[in-house]
Order: sequence, then C-alpha cells, then structure tokens
Amino acid sequence: MEAAITPRTKAIVVTHLWRVPAQTEALAGIADRHGITLVEDGSHAHGATAGHRHIGSFGTAAAFSMNGPKPLSAGEGGFVLTDDDEIYYRVLGQYNKRCRNEIPFDHPLARFSVTGMGLKLRIHPLAAALALNQLDHLDVRLTGRRRIAARMIDALRELPGISVPDIPPSCEPTWYALALVYQPDQLDGIPLTTLLKALHAEGCLDVDLPGSTRPLNEHPLFDAPNELFPLLPEGWPSYRPGQFPHAEHLHRHTLKLPVPHDNDDLADAYLQAFAKVISNYRDLKEAHPA
Ligand SMILES: Cc1ncc(COP(=O)(O)O)c(C=O)c1O
Repeated sequence: MEAAITPRTKAIVVTHLWRVPAQTEALAGIADRHGITLVEDGSHAHGATAGHRHIGSFGTAAAFSMNGPKPLSAGEGGFVLTDDDEIYYRVLGQYNKRCRNEIPFDHPLARFSVTGMGLKLRIHPLAAALALNQLDHLDVRLTGRRRIAARMIDALRELPGISVPDIPPSCEPTWYALALVYQPDQLDGIPLTTLLKALHAEGCLDVDLPGSTRPLNEHPLFDAPNELFPLLPEGWPSYRPGQFPHAEHLHRHTLKLPVPHDNDDLADAYLQAFAKVISNYRDLKEAHPA
C-alpha cells in the first residue's frame, strides 16, 4: 500500500469485510506517516475489535450501514462516527435544525445551516429507533456468533478444499458472515460454482459467492464511468480487469455462509452439508466434468 501512495493520495479507505477486521492499526500508522486520512467502512463490523480497539475508532471517520441483515440493523439507514469537528459539521448537513444548534455561529459552514448539503440523506427516525433498540442486544448476539463461529471454523478446518480465516488474538470479529477461501487444487480443480450448486442441493441456500468482494476495477461504474456520466472530463481515471490480481483472485475463490447467533442446530446442518459435499467431490467431478 505504501508503494501506491503518491503526492495526490488523499485518503485510505478500508472496509472491514465479512469476517476478520482489516489490519487497522497498521493502516492507521501508514496514514499517519504520510499525513493522509484513514476512513473506515465498518458496515460488516459493528462491535468488532482489532488490537483490542473498536473498529470505527481508528480512522478520521467511519461509516456504518445498518441496512438489511447487518450486525446492527435498522432495516435501512446508517451512521457516521468521527471525532473531527469539520467532518461532523458536514455530516450534520442532513439535519438543518441540528446545524443551527450545533455549528458555532462564527464557523464558515454555519451560513449553510438552512439548506445543509442540499440533499436530505438522513436515517428515517423509526429506523433510528429500531437501531437503538437493537443496540441493547448487540453484545449478546456477537457473543453467540463468536461462540458458534469458533465451532464452525474448527469443524471446517478439517475439510480439504477450503481455508478458514486465522483470527489474531487481539481481534474480535462480528462474523457478519463466515467467508471461506476455496482451494481448487485440493479438490481436483472442480469449479467453485459446482461446489456451490451441491451445497444448495443440500439445502444450504444461504451459502453464496459474495458480489461485494468484486474489486472496484472490475465494475463498469469505475472502468467505464462515462457511459453513466457523459460529462466526466476527458482522461478521467479508468480501471480495467487484471490490475489488482490478488483482490481479483480472492474474489473468485471466496464463498460465504451465515453464522447464527443462537441456533447451533442450523450451524450443525451447514457443517454436515459441507462435510458431505466435500467428501463426495469425486462424484461431483464426474457429474459435472469441466
Ligand atoms: C461494506 C458496505 N459498505 C457500504 C454499504 C452501503 O450501505 P447502505 O446501503 O446503507 O448505504 C454496504 C451495504 O450493504 C456494505 O456492505
């Protein structure tokens, strides 16, 4: 990462995806050394810790989605954590009354209080109330998930063809999902999609190949943005597949499964299905030759 930093680099954005939080202390050190900002996306990691510190407390600001089945869910909505006044005032731009009450009258942003940032992107109040209630249950759920995840990892570690995450001792993940990395060479090269189909046939319908690990350079929004935004200036940076081989490889070899917080039977059913499918991989190869 340090080799990629140039004088034009403004920020490092880190997303704590699915399982073990990113090496946030190291990233914060790099950001400090280069005088750039660290921004965290903790949307999969509410309540996770790295280096015994909560995710979201390392960066200048951290965003947390609370949509759908996130570890802390409001149905829809999210929040920003920051201890930086300038960012705080800008985030407040979604709430004009709070702008008037909280931005000091002599601050340059105070005159924007009535319109804020122009758009109203704030959370629905009912969703915020739901989230506050869910917050009371977060620790119990995380404790349950951590217990079940540890059991699942121990069982899955014994199976060939998939590698389980290593968890540094100072890390407490949320287990938004248990992401596994497929090792095709250990299963005679059967395609990951064949394995997935067999797991689905065993009823593991929530096992999937996550779309959100797809590196940004492979998304047309980034590699062909002019189709959507024709007014973008000429020479706008564009990206292409192949530029980030490690991230691309990881994306094509990742599968994920849910981690229940209080349902050991469900976890066992997933584990049995994995054991059955993987121990019969030779039959799968015959049924679906490459
Ligand atoms: C890691 C991550 N960041 C950001 C988002 C966007 O969140 P929202 O839909 O609440 O804007 C999501 C949504 O699923 C996510 O998983």
